[in-house]
Amino acid sequence: MSIIIAPSILASDLSQLDDQVRQAEDGGANWIHVDVMDGSFVPNITFGPVVVEAVRRVTDLPIDVHLMIVEPERHLRAFANAGTNHLTVHYETCPHIQRTLQSIREMGMSPGIVINPGTPVNTLSELTHDFDNALIMTVNPGFGGQSFIETMYDKIRRTKALLDHTGSNATIQVDGGISSETVKGCYEAGATNFIAGSSIFKHKDGIAAGIHALRDALAGNDH
Ligand code: DX5
Ligand code: ZN
Repeated sequence: MSIIIAPSILASDLSQLDDQVRQAEDGGANWIHVDVMDGSFVPNITFGPVVVEAVRRVTDLPIDVHLMIVEPERHLRAFANAGTNHLTVHYETCPHIQRTLQSIREMGMSPGIVINPGTPVNTLSELTHDFDNALIMTVNPGFGGQSFIETMYDKIRRTKALLDHTGSNATIQVDGGISSETVKGCYEAGATNFIAGSSIFKHKDGIAAGIHALRDALAGNDH
């Protein structure tokens, strides 16, 4: 399965967003990850559809939107219209999650589900054919630059076992504290899709070097 590196623009220099996205693209990014936070589901406030639209004008790479907002179903259309390709909603915010995932697909986007570190893997068990991507948060959402929670390796492994057991082709994505130290363990546990903010945009040798460091840490695997 091919590896996806998705730089999270939350950690970028937002005063130069177009340059930062272009550098990520030139450095070999596969997707661009956009963190939408509402100050309610998570403490922080970040971007809305207008920023997705701005990223869309700068790159043809798939845009991966991670909604950390209450009542996400009210905003799906706006993110579709802004040019989102992959749209991921938190299990914890959706009382009718199956319907929400279906709506995302009907709007022409690829649906993803995301669970917080404290939410059990078996919440996914009735839904494994309704999403294309399962995002396992490896920090509590809300901020960049946090430390990877070590117990999440085993959670990724159990997610992979659930997907295999139910015959799902969904991929596993991880988000939070992904660096050259943690990426390989996540891959070995079953993740193939890696979101990274700080380790890419704040890499001492630049954005491309941050992406290369992740790929080098995975070297020897199929990517
Ligand atoms: C956290 C966000 C992440 C964040 C990751 O709530 O979902 O996408 O940007 O940042 P790092 O890679 O710095 O942990
Ligand atoms: Zn994210």
